[in-house]
Amino acid sequence: MGHGRDFIDQYRIIRSIRSGATCQIFEAVDANTNKKVAMKVLMAQAKKSRAERKYLQHEYDIASKLDHENVIQVFGVRTTGDDPYLSLEFGKYLNLKQRLRLDKALMLHRANVIIEQAALGLHHLHDHRWVHCDIKPDNFLVDDDGGTKLIDFALCQPSRTGFLAKLGIGKPKGIAGTRSYMSPEQIRRRPLDIRSDIYSLGCMYYEIVTGKLPFTGATPEQLLVKHLRSKAPPANTLNNNVTQEFSDLIADMLSKKKEQRPNNLDRMLGHLSSMRVFRSMPPHPSEIEPPEAEA
Ligand SMILES: Nc1ncnc2c1ncn2[C@@H]1O[C@H](COP(=O)(O)OP(=O)(O)OP(=O)(O)O)[C@@H](O)[C@H]1O
Ligand SMILES: [Mg+2]
Repeated sequence: MGHGRDFIDQYRIIRSIRSGATCQIFEAVDANTNKKVAMKVLMAQAKKSRAERKYLQHEYDIASKLDHENVIQVFGVRTTGDDPYLSLEFGKYLNLKQRLRLDKALMLHRANVIIEQAALGLHHLHDHRWVHCDIKPDNFLVDDDGGTKLIDFALCQPSRTGFLAKLGIGKPKGIAGTRSYMSPEQIRRRPLDIRSDIYSLGCMYYEIVTGKLPFTGATPEQLLVKHLRSKAPPANTLNNNVTQEFSDLIADMLSKKKEQRPNNLDRMLGHLSSMRVFRSMPPHPSEIEPPEAEA
């Protein structure tokens, strides 16, 4: 953003929410409607890049066709000029990555809601034949009741199945996405379909209920090899309050072969509704007694 300016087009900038690798997120007010919005604005290096400006347009083109309560709403885009931006529905709460760190007990208490709503939002994207390609806790915003919204459509690709996949059309150029949640086929740079996101969602579910990632490595290469070859310890061995059914569902989602994963989220949600995530409901933080009060 230029110095001494507090407007970008009709948006009055209130404050910076977060500075990332390529973009800065601001809280702003649309002066035309007086509504609060979030602005994703390309930063110094990124705005010089034509590719980054195109990602912004790509993200707008995808998100503007989506309409679901578990998906963030997008309002506008501008890819020209000094401050290329995307304007979005303002998310009052932090992303799930941050919340798992700061509000661990509350997130565990709301885990069943988050698990369902994350899948509902992603399913809506899949219905539009997009693969998100970057499913991870940083890309969901979560409120105190567990209300969850999917964000960040920059890396979305069309789902490649059947004939097109066999031809290898639509192979991604580089490794995009985050290694801790990356599917084996994404690591191998194969054409992707929605089952790649189902794998990544499985990694995220694992982290929500156990507090640990299914795979870690001392180096990025070791981590990738584990995604390709290792079996994660069942989630219910790390947290014995996780039911066998949910632990098995996560294991299915983490299958190395996509054919062995649940093949769509609609069916997975049906299965999920017939089971419990936890043997007993994790308590709300207000019900957890501080250690001093014991004994
Ligand atoms: N609409 C929003 N409301 C509130 N916070 C948001 C919103 N959109 C994004 N954020 C916050 O900003 C972070 C980064 O946004 P986003 O995931 O869209 O960008 P990114 O491409 O991952 O950015 P970078 O690569 O620079 O990290 C999110 O993880 C979230 O914490
Ligand atoms: Mg992101």
